[in-house]
Amino acid sequence: NNLIVPVITIDGPSGAGKGTVSQILSEKLGWNLLDSGSLYRIVAYAILKNHINLDDQVCIEQLIKSIDITYNVTESSTEVLLDDKNITNYLRDEKIGETASVIAANEIVRGYLIQKQKDFAKPPGLIADGRDMGTVIFPNALLKIFLDASPEERARRRTKQLQDKGLDVNIDEILANIIDRDQRDRNRSISPLVPADNAIVIDSTNLSINDVVSYILESYALLRK
Ligand code: DC
Repeated sequence: NNLIVPVITIDGPSGAGKGTVSQILSEKLGWNLLDSGSLYRIVAYAILKNHINLDDQVCIEQLIKSIDITYNVTESSTEVLLDDKNITNYLRDEKIGETASVIAANEIVRGYLIQKQKDFAKPPGLIADGRDMGTVIFPNALLKIFLDASPEERARRRTKQLQDKGLDVNIDEILANIIDRDQRDRNRSISPLVPADNAIVIDSTNLSINDVVSYILESYALLRK
């Protein structure tokens, strides 16, 4: 299926700007958008909600078989429904992100999410944002981007984002969390965060969102020539 539908994968660590870049690309190209991290976040939410121990394989497997995830995509927003309940607003929570990163190392969870992610590859195209989009989920993607930035810069961006929301945050704590999460995402044995062999690596430390978007659109235009 992904041989026919054009896919651009955007992988990288948290806070590198993947989310914003992917959103803009999907709007500019009129393509579908897969925020794969949200799937791991939904599972994390369900696990926390049901007070399941993160090491409890049996309970996690039972839970996964019983939950129903749907996306309501409209022009202006994407709502995430877990068993018909709209949980969109809970998913960006720091605790959910932490838990998502832990359970993302679980083979049962990753296996369950493979087909769900592939299903997003629908015409006219897909922007797939995550950690293993180019390496595992869409190995035949047309264009693979690995978007990186220094941990310090990612911590600065995240701090500003939270401060803009009126939250009182500590940049050192955020930096420590980012380093912690990087460690886990890059070093797990299953589908670790690494650039695909044929990925274009972009270091966005000194680039604006617009610079990154333009660079990707130019790379895509060159491919179509
Ligand atoms: O991108 P994010 O912060 O929403 O992702 C949350 C966690 O989910 C991330 O720390 C690791 C995991 N994840 C993953 O393992 N593979 C993906 N394709 C996307 C996210």
